[in-house]
Amino acid sequence: MNHFDYLNGVLHAEEVAIPEIAASLGTPFYLYSTATLTRHFTVFKEALPEGAMVAYAVKANGNLAVIRTLAALGAGADVVSEGELRRALAAGVPPERIVFSGVGKTDAELAFALDTGIHQINVESEPELEALSAIASAKGVTATIAIRVNPDVDARTHAKISTGKGENKFGVPIDRMPTLAKRCAELPGIDLKGIAVHIGSQITALDPLEAAYEKVLDMVRTLRASGHGIDRADLGGGLGVPYVMNERHPPLPADYGAMVRRISAGLPVSLAFEPGRLIVANAGILVSRVVYVKHGASRDFLVLDAGMNDLIRPAMYEAHHDIIPVIRRDGPERAYDVVGPVCETGDTFARGRVLPPFEPGDLAAILTAGAYGAAQASEYNARPLAPEAMVNGAAWTVIRPRPSYEEMLGRDRLPAWLD
Ligand code: LLP
Repeated sequence: MNHFDYLNGVLHAEEVAIPEIAASLGTPFYLYSTATLTRHFTVFKEALPEGAMVAYAVKANGNLAVIRTLAALGAGADVVSEGELRRALAAGVPPERIVFSGVGKTDAELAFALDTGIHQINVESEPELEALSAIASAKGVTATIAIRVNPDVDARTHAKISTGKGENKFGVPIDRMPTLAKRCAELPGIDLKGIAVHIGSQITALDPLEAAYEKVLDMVRTLRASGHGIDRADLGGGLGVPYVMNERHPPLPADYGAMVRRISAGLPVSLAFEPGRLIVANAGILVSRVVYVKHGASRDFLVLDAGMNDLIRPAMYEAHHDIIPVIRRDGPERAYDVVGPVCETGDTFARGRVLPPFEPGDLAAILTAGAYGAAQASEYNARPLAPEAMVNGAAWTVIRPRPSYEEMLGRDRLPAWLD
């Protein structure tokens, strides 16, 4: 459910008519709905066992306004770099609600995390464990950690976003956990509190998640039985969202929550979750203008002013995003290849998509773009990053302006020998 709806044939975000924002901000731009963010966070949180921590995965959308909206609802943050950690802190997420994941944290990042006193560092390898122990001991502090395990479960999602198979780079093989727990007990500066897992993203069935969680909770039981003080399980993110209107819905948060309650019942551990997409994907759209309607040799192209640099998901993961007109026109539908202006054939949002008629100058909304949209944007083809705006009821505001060409060019430096 989201709060982007037509009112008298004009697409609105909550109570704001989108053409009004386009006129003021220019296109393309990202637009987020506060009511949708709030709803998604609340529905997810309420589906979970009492007391579970929801650490929003900042990588999905790191805009400070988005993080702060969620932090005000009680969200924590799952971060994967010093930059994301700084974003979470700047947005007002208390350190005690921050989890630091990631397969390649540097010494500097680990040191920074220890200095900020976050809730937990999710260690992903033996070398990282040794490095963290050395850094923490040198500082005279103790790092509170979970070990991220790799349960060797196939999440049955796109290969590029599957993270829980044995062949993937993430986590330590789960059968090494008893040895690692022993090593943690020997190492100075390390307090092993939990086990973490995250098997992938856009997961549309519960059984792979359940299989992974069963393995993790079994391992928690085994370690507790052998005297380790494990009292946390971080079950990651990954629950999918609907990208195609009116198609079968991925499992609802309520079903996910019921599964988690069933398999964790009676185990004295506090649970944490790291949802990203589920919270922000359908809370954001990318608004673009049709530059040309072009009739090719065999296909009709809708050329937008948004490109793969703004939203890379179709090019990178063959992802489907619904595309709808901002103002509906009457007339017969036709099949369009919806493309951007970037000089690559991969700069295609949809092929042969049957859509209502579009004319040059019309606005098009690319839906479900709130997660991994702006966060993965680039300036490829020297296209300034699309600005971001946020709606809250009848109010809207820019939450990241479009950079000027001067700002863009001004970041480069000419070497003295070229002066
Ligand atoms: N926790 C960890 C350790 C993760 O690596 C991720 C996502 C999440 C949580 C959040 O997963 P979510 O709930 O959003 O599925 N760029 C790709 C998705 C990459 C996901 C990376 N890790 C896409 O656009 O589909």
